[in-house]
Parts: sequence; C-alpha cells; structure tokens
Amino acid sequence: MPPAIITKDLTKRFGALTAVDAINLEIREGEVFGLLGPNGAGKTTLINLLSTLLKATSGTALVAGRDITREPLEVRRNIGIVFQEPSVDDLLTGRENLWLHSLLYGVPRAEINGRIEKMLELVRLTARADSFVKTYSGGMRRRLEIARGLIHRPKVLFLDEPTLGLDPASRKDVWTYIRGLKDAGDTTIILTTHYMEEADSLSDRIGIIDQGHIIELDTPSALKRKVGQDIVYLTCPPGTLDKVKHLPFVSEGVEEDGRIRLTLDDSGRNLQALLKAAGDVEEVEVRRVTLDDVFLKFAGHQIKDETENHSMFERIAESRNRR
Ligand SMILES: Nc1ncnc2c1ncn2[C@@H]1O[C@H](COP(=O)(O)OP(=O)(O)O)[C@@H](O)[C@H]1O
Ligand SMILES: [Mg+2]
Repeated sequence: MPPAIITKDLTKRFGALTAVDAINLEIREGEVFGLLGPNGAGKTTLINLLSTLLKATSGTALVAGRDITREPLEVRRNIGIVFQEPSVDDLLTGRENLWLHSLLYGVPRAEINGRIEKMLELVRLTARADSFVKTYSGGMRRRLEIARGLIHRPKVLFLDEPTLGLDPASRKDVWTYIRGLKDAGDTTIILTTHYMEEADSLSDRIGIIDQGHIIELDTPSALKRKVGQDIVYLTCPPGTLDKVKHLPFVSEGVEEDGRIRLTLDDSGRNLQALLKAAGDVEEVEVRRVTLDDVFLKFAGHQIKDETENHSMFERIAESRNRR
C-alpha cells in the first residue's frame, strides 16, 4: 500500500521565521500519527500545508497519492479537517451543519440522510441533532466537528488539537471516538496535540516537533524506552550520585533540587540493588516516564503547556509560593 502521506523537504517560511523546516515524513495508510509539540512548534502550519490551506515555500508532499502543490483540489477531495478553532455554525442545528457540509463536499444526495444518521450515532449526538449548535457544550461541538470532518469519507483526517480547551471528561470522550475511528478501519488520522497523555494514548507513532523540525519519531513505547522506563528520585547525602550513576541499569543520573534523579531500566527489578548501592537514603520516589521526560530529553527543554487548566495550576502554585 502506498503511504497516506509523504513529505519532501516541506518548508514554510513567514518572513524571517521558518515555521516548518524541511520536514520529511512518511505516514502509513490507516495509521494514527501524533504530532506532539509545544505552542508555536509548527503543528498547525504543517497541517495547513498538507491540507492545501497554505502554500509551501519550498518542498512538497503527497497526500492520498496527490501532490499538494500540483493537485490541491484532488487533495481536498480526499481529506477531512477538524480545525484548532471551533468552526461549526452556531446558528444552525447539528444536523443542518452536517447537511451543509455534505453538499459542499459533493456527497451524493441520496446518501446524505443515511450518512448523517450514522455519523450522529458515532459521535452520540442523535438526541441533540435538531438543537442549535449554540446550545451545545464544548465537547458536543468538538464531536460534531469530528462528524463533519468524516461525513464525506475522507482517506485522511486531520485533527488539529482536537481536545484543546475541553474539560477532562469531554477530552476522554473525544479520545474514545478517535479510538473508535481507528478501530473502524482505514482512515489515516494525523492528530496534533501538546498533551503528552493524548499523543501517548491515541497514536501508533509520534513525531515530536520543535521549532519546525521533527526531532524524534517513534512509537510511544519506543520513545519512552529511549529515555528509560522509570524515574527514581533519591533524597540522600552528597556524593551518593557517584556511587550509583555507573550501575548497569541506570541510564541517566543528575542532581536536581537537592535530590538525585535517576532514569532506570526497570525499577521493579532494580530498585533494591539501587538502594543497596546508594546506602544512606532518606526518601525514595518512583514514577513512570512520561512524554514530558521524552520531550525534555530530545528537545532539551520542557513542553510549555499554555492551556487554561495549566495556567490555573500555575496560578495556584504561585499563590502558594507567595504565602
Ligand atoms: N500566518 C502567519 N504569519 C506569520 N507567522 C505565523 C503565521 N502562522 C503561524 N506563524 C508562526 O509560525 C510558528 C508556528 O506556528 P503554528 O504552526 O501555529 O504552531 P503550533 O500549531 O505548533 O502552535 C509560530 O512562531 C507562529 O507564530
Ligand atoms: Mg496550532
């Protein structure tokens, strides 16, 4: 099977800024590909290039076998997009939104009603189909957008930050639908996110993007293996790091905030040996590696999450620090 997407040195510059920098990617048919990176990394720009909403500065890509530069109309016929910003019409009902979109995308008239019913069911909006979208919750809107992105049966679906701004329950809901699509078959899904957990739980492979570059690309579990499996923090006397960092199962060791932070291959098996080698340990904390750790390792800096929730946490932390 030919790949769903191939990019060749795909580049987009905005003046002096290179938002997408000579990206070469191959995405398999039926794959869920997660594009993970902080705000400003170039995720939306890449999606806009692949969906022909933006013109590449240089390089090109094939989407569903069609060239984004030479055959943009053919590309558009084969794709669906769920934008980062809400884009369903508030003053129409859910059903009307789907109807309008079906007409725009040339779904055969005789099939429209049947498809609408199916999509409404898939995203569990049947009961609210005839309410105005302005009465929908954030999660319901997103689900309607996903239904709309799929109703013309695209080969490739782009989901740009599909859960941005949703509360945790709606986010989990949207994840369930995306998993459902994945199980249902042959739609290739390109999903951008700056939530590590989201990329981890939905993607077959993840490309980590930073400043327009794909800095790492692998399966979620392989990415986590590359940074080790577990992080262990030890509160212990100075000099302990030298005693433990050369142990065969320790892949990395640093001093951090008055304790030492070790990346271990398998803490279940090796923790005892570690504690024995360390000697005098006051406190131990073990946690699984997350994609935050992965990002820190490959990008050299942490993912800065700028969502409302996060800034709320930050505000709470700040007010605690002031006290
Ligand atoms: N139309 C534009 N004009 C100028 N700069 C832009 C434009 N769109 C995006 N950028 C810049 O390109 C970079 C990548 O943006 P974007 O693709 O939106 O990142 P992400 O989706 O990963 O947050 C950012 O620095 C952004 O400010
Ligand atoms: Mg974006």
